[in-house]
Amino acid sequence: MQINGRTALVTGTSRGIGPAIARAFADQGGRVICHARTEDDARRAAEEVGGEPVAGDLGDAAGIAEVAARVATLAPELDVLVHNAGVLRRGGVDDALRDDLDVCFAVNVVAPIGLTQALLPQLRAADAARIVVVSSTMGQFAGGMTGGSLPYRVSKAAVNAFVACTATELAGDGILVNAMHPGWVKTAMGGPAATVTPEEAAVTALYLATLPDGGPTGRFWRGCLEIPW
Ligand SMILES: NC(=O)c1ccc[n+]([C@@H]2O[C@H](COP(=O)([O-])OP(=O)(O)OC[C@H]3O[C@@H](n4cnc5c(N)ncnc54)[C@H](OP(=O)(O)O)[C@@H]3O)[C@@H](O)[C@H]2O)c1
Repeated sequence: MQINGRTALVTGTSRGIGPAIARAFADQGGRVICHARTEDDARRAAEEVGGEPVAGDLGDAAGIAEVAARVATLAPELDVLVHNAGVLRRGGVDDALRDDLDVCFAVNVVAPIGLTQALLPQLRAADAARIVVVSSTMGQFAGGMTGGSLPYRVSKAAVNAFVACTATELAGDGILVNAMHPGWVKTAMGGPAATVTPEEAAVTALYLATLPDGGPTGRFWRGCLEIPW
């Protein structure tokens, strides 16, 4: 499958991995709806890739509803939904803060679930939609649960569960739902010592957004290769 001629929503395109995913899709002829928290950031991101902006805070229900309503207007058929926006909060079992748990769950778990739910009519109206969740091996039971950054790890484990469940539920609609680990990426979140560029991370997002009909679903990926949950 090609991204050419298909419409994709990418969340969190103000900075980091999101703009690189938007760029990768646009370079292949995709129509990209660039989400950012603020109107200014969304406009700037959209201008950079010739896409369309949509703004809203994914940390609360009103923001999610606002984003979904605008996307539904722009794209009655939504071919690709990339849940990329995310937050990292640290702390272990001794000192993780309630606020940090709340924000990680709101942005990393509740937002992908809520936005997917709100956009189900548009995803079902498309011809074989694809949903991609930018998760993390820090939420991977097979090796990722080494302690520390508890709010982040448990939120990414939870969103992985969302991917597995939703893939099963949407299989009958021909919608493929997959999670990816982008690598340790040089962004504000990954830090300057990180080894992967946002552009390299975007390759897996493009791969999952263009999986063929009947392709894998409910799986976890890194560098275009399947990894265990
Ligand atoms: N970097 C890594 O090494 C790494 C590794 C594994 C997984 N990941 C995952 O990759 C994804 C992107 O990470 P990144 O490295 O690009 O992070 P980043 O540079 O910190 O960017 C995070 C993005 O999420 C947006 N965002 C955060 N909270 C939001 C909210 N409440 N409403 C709307 N947008 C919000 C930010 O918007 P603002 O600019 O408005 O804050 C920004 O666009 C995340 O899901 C992250 O967990 C990253």
